[in-house]
Amino acid sequence: MSAPTLSQYLLNKQCHHSVITPQLEQLIMQVSIACKAIGITIGKGALAGVLGHAGSENIQGEEQKKLDIITNDIMLAATSKGGCVAGLASEEMEDIYPLPEGARLGDYLMLFDPLDGSSNIDVNVSVGTIFSILHKPEGKTDITTEDFLQAGTKQVCAGYVVYGPSTLLVLTLGHGVDCFTLDRELGEFILTETGMTIPEDTKEFAINMSNMRFWEQPVLRYVEELLAGKTHVRGKDFNMRWVASMVADVHRILTRGGVFMYPYDVKDASKAGKLRLMYEANPMSFIVEQAGGASTTGRVRILEIQPTGLHQRVPVILGSKNEVELVTGYHS
Ligand code: AHG
Ligand code: MN
Ligand code: MN
Repeated sequence: MSAPTLSQYLLNKQCHHSVITPQLEQLIMQVSIACKAIGITIGKGALAGVLGHAGSENIQGEEQKKLDIITNDIMLAATSKGGCVAGLASEEMEDIYPLPEGARLGDYLMLFDPLDGSSNIDVNVSVGTIFSILHKPEGKTDITTEDFLQAGTKQVCAGYVVYGPSTLLVLTLGHGVDCFTLDRELGEFILTETGMTIPEDTKEFAINMSNMRFWEQPVLRYVEELLAGKTHVRGKDFNMRWVASMVADVHRILTRGGVFMYPYDVKDASKAGKLRLMYEANPMSFIVEQAGGASTTGRVRILEIQPTGLHQRVPVILGSKNEVELVTGYHS
């Protein structure tokens, strides 16, 4: 076996980059173990009776699936007592998660979406897990929500796992993006791609077209130009894909380029967008930028937004740089 395992990779990084502390290395390993457990649970599907609704709603008024709750619990169990985090927050919990009694306070804060694309789970389509790791404010022992509200530029690590035909972990520590494939026999994530890059140009876009009548003019104009194809301003034909699991859609873009949009729409004026800044948009934007792509709300760079709430929503336009810049330019 020549390619390094995740743990060998992290130990090696520790020797070369001061950003990786032993605690950060341990935390990433804890997350990877949780994701292996999540993958196993998801894989059992109906055999384990884990599909379907839980009969409850999360803080955002979305119906929870049984697996939203199970995967959240797996992630909490794997990371809350490990001595690496000082606090946790998730899509599935209204407030930040207090560490269990007696747990050692670590140096990091972590936010996560334990099961992304959960509407796809019952139809056996790819889903994922997303996580974002921040420093705990120095000297702070009594962690509050405000401590989590750091701009995306402050992330020390972000990653996602996609549970698809194979299980992949994609990771950035601020020095490029690397990809690991789960060897199911060994039970180890093995490094299979380094320095993932998103091509600057693309002929593929991803957007939920059913929301078209609710979009703002700049996005409408952009998509109409893409649809008009070769004989109009763009001079080429575009293809469209929409998995409806952000992890799977973003992974496709990391693999072969593309532009992903969940833009602002007026469907529900009280919501600034659908995707959540802290555990969807920020970690994905960090990864995309580290792979040479771009990520904006259409108006501002996502990573520079000063967060105001744990579950804050933002419009998201990310992927191949030239396309993101073009549609962002239409907003000004
Ligand atoms: P989650 O399952 O964590 O709530 O996230 C679902 C998100 C995201 O993964 C995806 O891009 C988007 O919702 C799909 O939304 P539509 O169903 O509106 O297309
Ligand atoms: Mn999600
Ligand atoms: Mn989710």
